[in-house]
Amino acid sequence: MSKVIVVTGAGGVLCSGFAEYLAKQGHKVALLDLNERAAQAVADRINAEGGVAKAYACNVLDKACIEGVHAKVLADLGKCDILINGAGGNSPKCTTLHEEYVAGDETATEFLTFFNIDEKGFDLCLT
Ligand SMILES: NC(=O)c1ccc[n+]([C@@H]2O[C@H](COP(=O)([O-])OP(=O)(O)OC[C@H]3O[C@@H](n4cnc5c(N)ncnc54)[C@H](O)[C@@H]3O)[C@@H](O)[C@H]2O)c1
Repeated sequence: MSKVIVVTGAGGVLCSGFAEYLAKQGHKVALLDLNERAAQAVADRINAEGGVAKAYACNVLDKACIEGVHAKVLADLGKCDILINGAGGNSPKCTTLHEEYVAGDETATEFLTFFNIDEKGFDLCLT
């Protein structure tokens, strides 16, 4: 049965792929992204192939913005059945070399670890 699937970060690499795949399975996808143009490009590709997609400009860190988009999604596509949260992104300023702790990380200076990551870089992961 067709579901309404809301995807945040839908203009990005991973979630655009998820959204396109889900639309091909017959689901309606709401594409939310800070970057409206990127989300719209994904929606255009899906709709051109016969799917149902709608793009929305949305900052997932802004409650009022989310509530406004929620109302639009309800009106356009219906109640959300599934939410996929992919908003975020990878910044080189907050990407550690090792995915898990490796002995010596705490004193390393020549590459990024959880111990020497710049606070401003860390903030980039959250905005
Ligand atoms: N690509 C990977 O290998 C990988 C691995 C592990 C985790 N992740 C995580 O998965 C998520 C998606 O990764 P990706 O590679 O597709 O990233 P991406 O940078 O290609 O896409 C992220 C999207 O999120 C949007 N975004 C950023 N902040 C937002 C906000 N406040 N509100 C709404 N949209 C916002 C961006 O505009 C962008 O389109 C990220 O959180 C990333 O950290 C990615």
